[in-house]
Amino acid sequence: DLITEQFVVFVVSTTGQGEPPKNMKNFWKFIWRKVLPADCLVNVLYVVIALGDSSYQKYNMVGKKLYRRLKQLGATAFMGCCLGDDQHPHGYNGTLDPWLTNFWSEYLKRFPMKEGLDIIANSVLLPTRFQLKFVSTMPTTLSIPQRNSGPAQHEEQGMPEMNRGMFFALVKSNFRLTSPDHWQDVRLITLQSIHAEFKYKPGDVCMIQPSNSDENVKRFLQIMDLDPQTFFQWTARDCGSSEELGLPQPCSIDWLVRHHLDITSIPKSYFWEVLAGFSLEGKNRSQNKLQEFCSLEGQEELFSYCNRPRRNILEVLTDFPCTRKHLSLSHILDIIPAIKARAFSISSAPSNSLKELELVVAVVEYKTKLKELRKGLCSNYLAAKNSGNVIQLSIVDGTFVAPPSHRPLIMIGPGTGCSIFRSYIGERVAEHVMDNYLFFGCRYKKRDYLFKDEWEKLVKDKCLHLFLAFSRDQADKVYVQHVLKNNGLLLWNLIDIRGASILLSGNSRNMPNSVHDAFVEIFKLYGRLSEAQALSYMEHLCKEFRYQLETWS
Ligand SMILES: Cc1cc2nc3c(=O)[nH]c(=O)nc-3n(C[C@H](O)[C@H](O)[C@H](O)COP(=O)(O)OP(=O)(O)OC[C@H]3O[C@@H](n4cnc5c(N)ncnc54)[C@H](O)[C@@H]3O)c2cc1C
Ligand SMILES: Cc1cc2nc3c(=O)[nH]c(=O)nc-3n(C[C@H](O)[C@H](O)[C@H](O)COP(=O)(O)O)c2cc1C
Repeated sequence: DLITEQFVVFVVSTTGQGEPPKNMKNFWKFIWRKVLPADCLVNVLYVVIALGDSSYQKYNMVGKKLYRRLKQLGATAFMGCCLGDDQHPHGYNGTLDPWLTNFWSEYLKRFPMKEGLDIIANSVLLPTRFQLKFVSTMPTTLSIPQRNSGPAQHEEQGMPEMNRGMFFALVKSNFRLTSPDHWQDVRLITLQSIHAEFKYKPGDVCMIQPSNSDENVKRFLQIMDLDPQTFFQWTARDCGSSEELGLPQPCSIDWLVRHHLDITSIPKSYFWEVLAGFSLEGKNRSQNKLQEFCSLEGQEELFSYCNRPRRNILEVLTDFPCTRKHLSLSHILDIIPAIKARAFSISSAPSNSLKELELVVAVVEYKTKLKELRKGLCSNYLAAKNSGNVIQLSIVDGTFVAPPSHRPLIMIGPGTGCSIFRSYIGERVAEHVMDNYLFFGCRYKKRDYLFKDEWEKLVKDKCLHLFLAFSRDQADKVYVQHVLKNNGLLLWNLIDIRGASILLSGNSRNMPNSVHDAFVEIFKLYGRLSEAQALSYMEHLCKEFRYQLETWS
C-alpha cells in the first residue's frame, strides 16, 4: 500500500545493536528487498521522526537508514530527518518540538486548510481517548485488588491483569550483595517458577512489571479526591486504543492507580497542555504558570521546575490544587502514561536449574535539588519483595547475538553489568568452555565487589580469567578501560589471532565510550594500525557481532 500513499510520516526507534524494533522487522525486510524498482515510491512524500539515544554508537541508525532508503526508492523527503535523542536535556521534545513547528508551517503552505476549516488552537481540549461509565455496584466476580503482601494465592488475584507474554513467579529470596556501609543497595533476587519451568538462554532479559507503592497510591487518591472502591467500565472512542489500555473490565480506581498509572514518571508535553487547558480562565499565579509552561518562551522555566529536579506527576499535581480538581478520570487516563515493564539481565545459567532464575538489581535512589529522595519505581518495588511474594514478568531475547562457544569470550561488565555474564560463564563452564575473560569494576573491593567468591572459585578451577578495577581503593581512579589497556597485548592476541568476541554490559554513561577508545588504542599499539585503520578494524568487529554492547541509563 505504501506505493499508493501520498504523504507518510514514519516514527521509528532504534534498538538492540542499531536494529529496528520487533514490530517493524517485516517492514524492514520488505523495504530492503533488492527486487524493489528504484522508482517504486516516486509518488510518495515522506518524513522520518527517528527516536534514539546518542549515547549509543549506532545513534538513530534505523531512522537514518530508512530516510536514505526511501529516497533510493524514489520517494521525496518533505523535510530533513528529525533525530529525537533520549540524552537531550528536554528528551525527545528537545528536537521534536522545533521540528514540528517547522513541519506544520511547511505542510500548511503545501496543503492549505480547506475553506471553512480552522486550525484547532493548542488551548482547546480535545475529546478524551476513553469514555468511562461508573458502575454503581461492585462486581461480584472480581476481588478487590489488593497489595501483594499476603499468601501467594491471594496475590495472584490482586495482581494486574496479565499483559501478553507475562506470567507470575514467586520470589524465593532477596538479599543484599553490597556491604551495609556501601552507598548503593544491590540485590540478588531469586525467582521460582509457579507453573511451568522458566525458558531462557544466556543473554535473555526478564521484563518486570512493577506497581506503585502503597504510600504513593494513598497520596494520589487523596490529592485527586478519588474513592478507591469505585468501579468503572471503559470504552475507547476509536478502535485501536482499547488494546493498548490493558485494564480489567470493570476496573476499580484502586487497581487503576496501583497497577496502571505511572504517577512517579516525569510529565510529558501533553500533560502540560491538558493542565493548561483547564487553567485558561484562571487568574491566579499558578494558573498563569501553566500557560507559560506551554509557551515557547516558557520552556526553560518548565525545564527548571520539572525536568531538572525530576519532579514527578504526583508532585506536580500536588503543586496545582486549583487545576487538578478539574481533571476527570478520563483525562487522568489520557495524561498519565501506563507503567512500563523494566528490563533486567538474567544472571543465572539455565543449565543450573530452570525452576529458578536470578536477577541482580541495583536499587535506584538519588537526590536532586528537591529535598525528597527520588526512588526508581521498579528497583524499589523489587527490593521490597519478600520470600513468597508474587511478581509479574516475561522473558524476552536480549540484544546480544550469541557469541560462538568455540572462541574466547571477553566480557566487560562493571557493576550490575556483570549480571548477564554470570549466565554466559555458567553455561560455558557447564559445556567445558574455559576461555572466559571477565573485566569487572566497582568502587571498593570490600563493599561492592559483586560475586567475589564465585568469580574467585572459577579462577581457582581454571574456568575464568578475571581482571578487576577498584576505582576508589587507591588515590588514582582505576576503571575497566585502564585494566583493558594494561592487558592490551593479551587482548589483541585473543581478538586478532584467536577470533575472540567482546561483549559489554552496564551503565551507558561514560563507560561504553571509554571502553571503545581503550580498544582502539590497543589495536593501534599492538596491531600497529593507524587511527583510521584501528577504527575500521573496530567497525569490522561490530559488523561481525564480535563487539556488542547492551547498556542502559
Ligand atoms: C537490556 C537491559 C538490561 C538491564 N539489566 C539490568 C540489570 O541487570 N540490573 C539492573 O539493576 N538494571 C538493569 N537494567 C536497568 C533497569 O531496566 C532499570 O532501568 C533500572 O532498574 C531503573 O528502573 P526503576 O524503575 O527502578 O527506575 P525509574 O523509575 O525508571 O527511574 C530511573 C530513571 O531515573 C533517572 N535517574 C537515575 N539515577 C539518577 C541520578 N543519579 N540523577 C538523576 N536522574 C537519575 C534516570 O533518568 C533513569 O532513567 C537493564 C536495562 C536494560 C535496557
Ligand atoms: C537495549 C537497547 C538498545 C538500544 N540501542 C540503540 C541504538 O543502537 N541506537 C540508538 O540510537 N538508540 C538505542 N537505544 C535507545 C532507544 O532507541 C530509545 O531508548 C528509545 O526510546 C526506545 O524506544 P522504544 O522502547 O519505544 O523502542 C537502545 C535502547 C535499549 C534499551
